[in-house]
Amino acid sequence: MTNKTSETFHGITFPGHLHTQDSLHYATHFKFQDTDTLIVTYPKSGTTWMQEIVTVMSCKGDAVRAQTQPNWNRAPWLEQYYCPDVLNASQENRILTTHLPYNLLAAVIYVARNPKDVAVSYYYFHKMAKFLPESGTFSEFLSAFLEGTVHYGSWFDHVKGWTNNARNIHNFLYVTYEEMSRTLRASLERVSEFLQCPLVEEELTSTLKSCSFSSMKKNCMVNYSLIPQEIMDHRKSKFMRKGKIGDWVNTFSEEQSCTFDAIYTSRMADSSLTFVWCN
Ligand code: A3P
Repeated sequence: MTNKTSETFHGITFPGHLHTQDSLHYATHFKFQDTDTLIVTYPKSGTTWMQEIVTVMSCKGDAVRAQTQPNWNRAPWLEQYYCPDVLNASQENRILTTHLPYNLLAAVIYVARNPKDVAVSYYYFHKMAKFLPESGTFSEFLSAFLEGTVHYGSWFDHVKGWTNNARNIHNFLYVTYEEMSRTLRASLERVSEFLQCPLVEEELTSTLKSCSFSSMKKNCMVNYSLIPQEIMDHRKSKFMRKGKIGDWVNTFSEEQSCTFDAIYTSRMADSSLTFVWCN
């Protein structure tokens, strides 16, 4: 991948247009409050989806906040440069988001997705997000993804780092994209229990409706269509692109899939995680 602006922090590269040394330092020294909820993901694993779920759920199924306030304001990233203004310490029940590795943080809802779909989603995201390096061909991008030289580092290190160390984290919830995709109602129930945010049937049903792919694709507060075209070019690829399990088969060649499987088997030998790869 050709190098546009990036920022290196603790040996990992981050998009320089989004993060500075100061903002990354701020994130890793962030003072959490007991009432904070932190959503953690490797990019393209369902971040935006979980931001929507937690926002609507904390409003008891009322979608007004999710439809009037952009997701980066209501569930801000710790590491983005504008965070100090958005994160008001006097606020209770803050919803925070991060892509940082486990060793730079603590406390958490972690969302993981099968890495073949992550790689494809990330590749198309590079085509539309002008602040990311040129992706090159899919084959070039896949090599960088497997080597962990993409922004936010290696998917393997990220997922294993967080999950293998989860026992050290007080209040840790692990959710997969595939579980949300197959049984969103059950996932909402798990999140609601974790957040100690009980919902009556009607509230659960309206949360479910707001967090469906079709609602989120239409909601300009979460589909990133408010971002200027010079920064995110939706003509190249939509942010809410496909929203499916197993879309990787349309981009991976058979050979790429075999190479991927071999690397996956060896890199995940020390993890008990399993993923759903196809719908
Ligand atoms: P695709 O590119 O495969 O469509 P993140 O928010 O972590 O950047 O992840 C973005 C991915 O999550 C995109 O995947 C996007 O379409 C998908 N996504 C977001 N909301 C979703 C929803 N409600 N249902 C299914 N997929 C969703």
